[in-house]
Amino acid sequence: MQKLLIQGGRRLQGEVRVHGAKNSSLPILAAALLGGGETVLHNCPALSDVDAALRILTYLGCEVRREGDTVRIESSSVTQNEIPDDLMHEMRSSIVFLGAILSRMGRAKLSFPGGCELGPRPIDLHIQALERLGAQIAEEYGYLDCRAEQGLTGTKITLAFPSVGATENILLASVLAKGETVIHNAAQEPEIVDLANYLISRGARIRDAGRSTILIEGVDRLSSTEYTVMPDRIVAATYLSGAAITGGDVLVTGVNPNDLESVLPVFEQAGCRMKVEPDRIFLSGPGMLRPVSGPIRTMPYPGFPTDAQAPLMATLTLADGTSMFVENIFESRYKHAAELARMGADIKVEGRTAVVRGVEKLYGVPVEATDLRGGAALVVAALAAVGETRISRVEHIDRGYESVETAFSSLGAKIRRV
Ligand code: UD1
Repeated sequence: MQKLLIQGGRRLQGEVRVHGAKNSSLPILAAALLGGGETVLHNCPALSDVDAALRILTYLGCEVRREGDTVRIESSSVTQNEIPDDLMHEMRSSIVFLGAILSRMGRAKLSFPGGCELGPRPIDLHIQALERLGAQIAEEYGYLDCRAEQGLTGTKITLAFPSVGATENILLASVLAKGETVIHNAAQEPEIVDLANYLISRGARIRDAGRSTILIEGVDRLSSTEYTVMPDRIVAATYLSGAAITGGDVLVTGVNPNDLESVLPVFEQAGCRMKVEPDRIFLSGPGMLRPVSGPIRTMPYPGFPTDAQAPLMATLTLADGTSMFVENIFESRYKHAAELARMGADIKVEGRTAVVRGVEKLYGVPVEATDLRGGAALVVAALAAVGETRISRVEHIDRGYESVETAFSSLGAKIRRV
């Protein structure tokens, strides 16, 4: 079992580059299955979730090769339509393979991706949408058996909630379907736009990805492509949190500030000074952080991202006053609050609300990463804590951060993995 040991209290200083986005790499890798041909994907991060996706592609019959941050996928010889349980469980978001395998093979079998650390994770919207496109779906003994032997047919789909994963599955299932598909109340996250741009680079006809209504006109074939994954906006927010909580001076490069429009004002309100350029953000943390007035409400994009809630909460535990969060996306996404409290934070959670009263100091103690972003929050808190923090269950953090210890060490933090 690996742990991170962090000796807190050093101001972060220097420059750090953000790696490619996990949340657009995963659907793009699933999309590489569509129509055969080769995908050369640059800026594809070395994360355990991405490795799991590559293992799924290999299992299905693709040839997969990684050279540095470039991954090549040749998908002409796909033979399988089923994802075995162990691979399915390695990565929660493997449900995004459903639409791609169904489109490619006319049938897809996978086990139900049960709950997760964030609470129940239903897939009803994915299933209803694929049924609207003509799939027959049977759910039995924890398995999903989806068939569309005659192919899928475009239609109008209105999502009850702008689910990121369901929007991705509809895109994957519809780009090669017959006729036109319209998605109303689609998710507008930048990762949806990235997936659409990848598909467009292969000849798909998609209009208005990034808006609430997306139009897809089915095409007969997709071509090979070379594509670069967008920067990871949540990793960027985490590095900025580290700079803010330590009163550091950090330049985050390789980032798209437009993707962080609802996050940057929170740092500003907390008293950070920022200089924002087209592909870089410089943040200078204050001597004493200020609390944020008015609740920080997580919302679908362009609202404040639920994935940034935990690292920002960690940051505000040391503010000079009280801040408040309202989590609207996931039911049970405050598990990090209890771990932060062990470090001395004062956080009261009631239902969807968390009230964070700033404390003077956090203290290094043994804590456990409860989930990916919750783990990142503990790293952020540990950077400013008095003494040494030991974080266990680092595997959660490795799902979404490429060597978090290397990134923060390069900024002067004392952090190592044992
Ligand atoms: C994606 C991101 C995740 C992020 C989330 C919200 C990936 C790999 N993961 O997750 O990091 O936190 O978006 O921005 O991209 N829901 C249903 N029924 C469904 C689908 C979703 O009720 O069929 C609910 C979920 O339980 C949740 C909410 O909708 O409460 C949002 O889920 P969704 O947008 O689908 O998130 P994911 O795609 O799972």
